[in-house]
Amino acid sequence: MRTPLRLSALPARVTGGTGHSLGLTIVADEVIRSSFFNVHYFESHAGCDPACSTARWKLTNLLSAMSTEQASTRLPVIDVEAFLSGEKGALETTAKELQGALEDVGFLSIVGHGIEWRIVTDMYDWAARYHNLSDVTKLNHEMTSTLMGYVGLGGAKRGDRPHALNAAFFMGRPGSKRNQFPDEEALPGFRDAAETYYRVMEQLCLNLLPLYATAADMPANYFDKFFDPALATLRMSHYPPVVAEPDQWGIDPHSDAGFMTLLPTNEVSGLAIKADDGWFSVEQETQSFVVNAGDTLRAWSNNRFRSTQHRALNVSAGNRFAIPFFFDPRPDTTIDPLSGCISDIRPLAVKPYRYGEYLQNFMREGYIPAAN
Ligand SMILES: [Fe+2]
Repeated sequence: MRTPLRLSALPARVTGGTGHSLGLTIVADEVIRSSFFNVHYFESHAGCDPACSTARWKLTNLLSAMSTEQASTRLPVIDVEAFLSGEKGALETTAKELQGALEDVGFLSIVGHGIEWRIVTDMYDWAARYHNLSDVTKLNHEMTSTLMGYVGLGGAKRGDRPHALNAAFFMGRPGSKRNQFPDEEALPGFRDAAETYYRVMEQLCLNLLPLYATAADMPANYFDKFFDPALATLRMSHYPPVVAEPDQWGIDPHSDAGFMTLLPTNEVSGLAIKADDGWFSVEQETQSFVVNAGDTLRAWSNNRFRSTQHRALNVSAGNRFAIPFFFDPRPDTTIDPLSGCISDIRPLAVKPYRYGEYLQNFMREGYIPAAN
């Protein structure tokens, strides 16, 4: 009997079965080729032949990597078109939706954002071309204390886990001296394209700020001064098709340090978020941005909004690329809990801190080059 299973549903099915006595083989190649793969149950199977052993080993490897991911989840979807077009009353109604999503999940999907999707797919293409450069070329601008540039596979590590299975390029504000790019002749047009994309994303984030302020029960323009200019970072991540060791991830479980992160829908999914009852793989909306709150928004909101733990793993046989945009306040901003988020039922629970110092510590903890 052939039973097609969703990857995210697999652990429950396997642990819920009768295990080895039931016996199972998998189409091994499909384990790493697709996030949708088939498991063949043989009810009369007895013993374990070599082919079965290999398949079982690969499945065990994958499952231990996938750990407790139980099911997939659809994030709250927020259509911001009416708000962005200035429709009367849309600020309040959209902010209310945002408030609910931030309080309950910490993640949401934004549609109606007005970004021409070709701009996003072009940037994904650039990210692929960038990561296809030789290691020598990329290591010419390896991440330094400026926290920008290239971090190769194995450069990101948290705690005692095996290194994360992604390589990444980081860039900050166009024109910033902190930026490090490949030589123009190595990838003509890359820098220009990345800077243009950065500007587009920055403007979208700036446009969304009144929603966040209203959601936090503050005046609509409250956040503006802290993002003039914003401290934003574009990351281009490459998750090669590598089978993970136990407790090894494409990117380790973490919450983001900043205010908000926008990840445009990518071809290969792999993002999972942590809920109270386990890990859930995220179902992406077409041509949307997955948006999550970071620790700074959580602290600013007096812990009213969630900065939800998340992780990613590429379980496809192809490359996964992700181009998250991190939108954060100026480093000299004091994160002082917002008056709209303090009440009798939500008393002050967060000590003020300067954002820049927090971010430096976050990056030093996570990236080996920056720690040296
Ligand atoms: Fe993240």
